[in-house]
Amino acid sequence: MVIPTHNEAGLIEKKLDDVARQDYPRERLVVVVVDSASSDGTPERVLEWSRARGAGVILLREPTRLGKSRALNNVLRSLGREVEVVVVTDADSYWPDPGTLARAVSYLSDPSVGAVSCLKRPVGGGVVEGVYRDFYNTVRLAESSVFATPVFHGELAVFRRSLLEELGGFPEDIGADDSHTATLVAVRGYRAITPGDIWCTELVPGRGYLRWRVRRAQHLVQHFARSLLMIPEAPGPFRKVLVLETYLHLVSPWLLVLSAALLLASAASGSILALAVLVLGTALLVVRPYRTWVVQQVILVLAALRNIVTRELVWEKEEKH
Ligand code: GDD
Ligand code: MN
Repeated sequence: MVIPTHNEAGLIEKKLDDVARQDYPRERLVVVVVDSASSDGTPERVLEWSRARGAGVILLREPTRLGKSRALNNVLRSLGREVEVVVVTDADSYWPDPGTLARAVSYLSDPSVGAVSCLKRPVGGGVVEGVYRDFYNTVRLAESSVFATPVFHGELAVFRRSLLEELGGFPEDIGADDSHTATLVAVRGYRAITPGDIWCTELVPGRGYLRWRVRRAQHLVQHFARSLLMIPEAPGPFRKVLVLETYLHLVSPWLLVLSAALLLASAASGSILALAVLVLGTALLVVRPYRTWVVQQVILVLAALRNIVTRELVWEKEEKH
C-alpha cells in the first residue's frame, strides 16, 4: 500500500490509524509512505507513529517535489519481487468499513479484473458536491457493470502489479494518474471496476472549493484528451463508455456555452423565443440536479481553458479538517 504525501502533517496520523483498523493479514501487507519534500513535518509524524505503534511503516523521502505520479513510480521501482498488488490511497481519505481493503483486493482473484477503485462519500462540500457525487457513483457502477470505468479515485486505487509494470508505471505528464492508468488497463482488455461494496470518504475543502473542483476537472480533461486515440483499440463495451465519457467531459460543456451564446445573441436581436428559453434555463437553476449539472459544465469549461495556461501537475493543497 502506498500513501503519497506532501504537507499532510495534519492528517497523516489519522490516515495511518485508519489503515491500521483494516482487517487484513499484517504479514501480507507493506505500507509505504512516499513523501515529497514536505515542510510541515509529515515524515517525522510518520516515524513517530510507526515507533509508538510498533508497526512498521516504510518511509521513502524525496528531497524535491516532482508530483504524485513521480513519487508513486519511485515506490514501484523499489518493490520486492513478491509484491503482486499495489494499492494507492490519499492521505485525506478514509475507509469506514474495516473489510474494505480485503474486499477490494479480493476482486483481483478474478483474472479478468486488472484494477479496482471505490465509490465516494464526500465529507463537507454542501449540496452541489453531494448531488454531484451521488450521480457519479451511479455512473461508475453502471460503467463497471458494462466492463470498466475510465474514472478512478485516489482514495482507493488497486492495481495488479504486473499490469503497472507492462505500462511502465503511472503517467507522469497527466494529472489524473489513477483514471488514466485504469483506462490503459481496460484498453488492454482487463476490467477496471468500482464495485458497489467498496466505499471511501473524502474530505472536501471548505475554502477554495471551486479551485479544487477546477484542478481535478483539469486532470480529467487531460486524461480524456489523451485517451481519444485509444478509443478505436478499446474492447467493444468499454469503447462505448469511453466515447460517452469523452463526450461528457470534452464536448457537452462547450455545447452549453455555445447554445447560451447563440440564445443571448438572438435575444439581443429581438427574439422573444430565445429570451424565453434563456429565462427558463436560468429559472431552472433552483432545481438541484440541474444546478449541479450546470456548475459541472462551467467547471469543465474553466478547466479546459486553464489547461492552456498550466496543467497543474504539482498543486497547492486546499485546507481540510
Ligand atoms: N509524494 C507526493 N508528492 N504526494 C503528493 C504530491 C507530491 O508532489 N502532491 C500531492 N500528493 C499527495 C497528497 O498529499 C495526497 O495524499 C494525495 O497525493 C492526493 O492529493 P490531494 O491534494 O488530496 O489531491 P486531490 O484529492 O485534490 O486530487 C485527486 O485527483 C487527482 C487527479 O486529479 C486525488 O484523487 C488524486 O489522488 C488524484 O491524483
Ligand atoms: Mn484529496
